[in-house]
Parts: sequence; structure tokens; C-alpha cells
Amino acid sequence: MNCILVIGGTGTVGRQVVSQLCARGARVRALARKPTTAGLPPQVEVVRGVLTLPETLDGCLKGIDTVFLVWTAPAAAVALALDRITKHAPRIVFLSGPFNTPHPLFQQPNPLRTLGEHIERLIENSGLQWTFLPPGMFAANALIWWAPQIRAGDVVRWPHLAAPTAPIDERDIAAVAVRALCEDGHAGAEYVLTGPQSLSQFEQMSTIARVLGRSLRIEEISPDEAPHELLTIGPLVAVNMLLSAWAAAIGQPAHVTSTVVEMTGAPARPFLDWATDHAADIRA
Ligand SMILES: NC(=O)c1ccc[n+]([C@@H]2O[C@H](COP(=O)([O-])OP(=O)(O)OC[C@H]3O[C@@H](n4cnc5c(N)ncnc54)[C@H](OP(=O)(O)O)[C@@H]3O)[C@@H](O)[C@H]2O)c1
Repeated sequence: MNCILVIGGTGTVGRQVVSQLCARGARVRALARKPTTAGLPPQVEVVRGVLTLPETLDGCLKGIDTVFLVWTAPAAAVALALDRITKHAPRIVFLSGPFNTPHPLFQQPNPLRTLGEHIERLIENSGLQWTFLPPGMFAANALIWWAPQIRAGDVVRWPHLAAPTAPIDERDIAAVAVRALCEDGHAGAEYVLTGPQSLSQFEQMSTIARVLGRSLRIEEISPDEAPHELLTIGPLVAVNMLLSAWAAAIGQPAHVTSTVVEMTGAPARPFLDWATDHAADIRA
């Protein structure tokens, strides 16, 4: 049976991929920096590996047919890590970004985009059989972006409230990933994944308020104030990437694809469902 290594299995998407692969009865191994605290299902073989230490990857990759790759490690480590993967596994499914989708939300130049495109080129030239999964904005970003302010009080201060996105549920990304990992016929394919609806950031926050039964005051902050205020959600390079993407996206609906229903037979979950199912995480 196909043996699948999930790299990033303790993260938002990877954890879902691991659990859906297990539910399907697939043979799953997960690479983790700290296997003892990975918290993955007992049937998963959890092995220690660090993407910036390529010598730790050979053992993780032994006997593996297909790799699911989430890359959030430093750029400098990519080429050597991919060399190791190529030596062992014939097939890879890479969680990428929608670089080829001609919507302004996805077309702003930034270092993270450059890294993602670089990884795609390395994979294309590696001889691996590849599938790219570029999602739009994750619904789960709300846990990092807005939940801390919602826990602290009744005011959420945020820039570009009118910017629309089509937030995608991590369970839907994983459901498509599982198809690409377990089935034939996906080599050389890029599947752009989005949620089912275009919703402004204001509408997404209002949905969360409704689900929580809270009356939140949602205040627009200026793009000048934003870099400073948003540093709590990530490094400046990520904040600047988001600010330019949201600014460019205002004025037209978000890009919405039907890939999730086409690949899985089930419609992509609306943001309301994601918020309902994560109400406890938002409150926690
Ligand atoms: N957020 C969005 O809206 C969005 C949209 C499109 C694309 N993406 C892409 O999605 C990816 C992030 O996915 P995610 O949110 O699921 O990631 P995540 O929750 O941040 O998880 C990252 C995973 O990578 C592992 N990891 C990090 N550095 C490592 C290293 N040096 N060695 C081994 N493992 C390492 C982490 O393991 P530990 O448990 O050890 O930390 C964790 O399992 C990024 O590539 C991003 O560009 C995101």
C-alpha cells in the first residue's frame, strides 16, 4: 500500500490531512520536530525530522511513496530538503499559493510569493511527480488575526475591512489533498482551492460575532497604523504581504473556485460553518 509522509502534520492543514488519511485507512507517517508532543492519532508513525537539517530527513523518507509538503521553514533550507525528498519518494503534493491566479489578491509581489514560486520551480525540475494545491485565504486565519482581540474585549481593530476573500476551511483543503495523495491521475495538476463565498473581512468578523452571540465593535484602522498594530499576528514580511493583498483586492469580489466539490463531491464549507465549529477555539 502507498505509504505517505506528511511534512507539517502538526500544523493547521497537515493535522487535518493526517486525520483524514487515517480515516481512509491509509498508511501514514508524520515528520515532526518534537514527536513526543505532536499529538497525532496513535496509528500514525511519528518520526523526528527537521527541514533545516537535511541529514534528519533520510530516515523519515525511507519506504515512502508520496510526500505531502507544507513549507514554513527558512528559504535557505528548501533546495537540500527537496534533494532528500527526490532521492526517496517518487511523488509529492505541495501546499502552495495561487501565484498563477489572475486576481489582484494573489498578484502582489512579496518575498513569500517569491519563495513559493521558487519551491514550485524546484519541484517541477526535480523529476518528482507533483501536484500543487494553492489555496486562497484560510478561514483559520481568524484564530490568529481576530480571536485574540475578541477574547480581550468587544472591539476588533483591523485594516481594509471592505477587502473580500473566499475563506477556505482547512478540512476542505485536506479533503482535496487526500484525493491527490491517494488516487492516480493528479500528476502535473494545480488545483486552486477557495471557500464557496466572497465575504469582506467585515462580513467575516460579523459572522463570528453572530456565532458567538457577541456585539463586537469593528473599527477600521488606517493602512499607516496597520503594520505596527498587526505585528502581533506575524513578522513584518507577512503583515506587509497581507496589507498589499487586501488593498489590491478591494472593489471586486473574491476569486471563488469549484475545485472542492469537483474533487471531493462535497461542497466547500461556508465560513459560517467554520466559525460555528471553531467557536470554542475562538473563545478559548
Ligand atoms: N494562511 C493562509 O491564508 C494561507 C493561504 C495560502 C497558502 N498558505 C500556505 O500554507 C502554508 C502554512 O500552512 P499551515 O497554516 O497549515 O502551517 P502551520 O500551521 O504554520 O504549520 C507549519 C507546520 O510546519 C512544521 N514546520 C515548521 N518548520 C519546520 C521545520 N524547520 N522542520 C520541520 N517541520 C517544520 C510545523 O511543525 P512544528 O509543530 O514543529 O512547528 C508545522 O507542522 C504556508 O506555506 C503558507 O504559505 C497559507
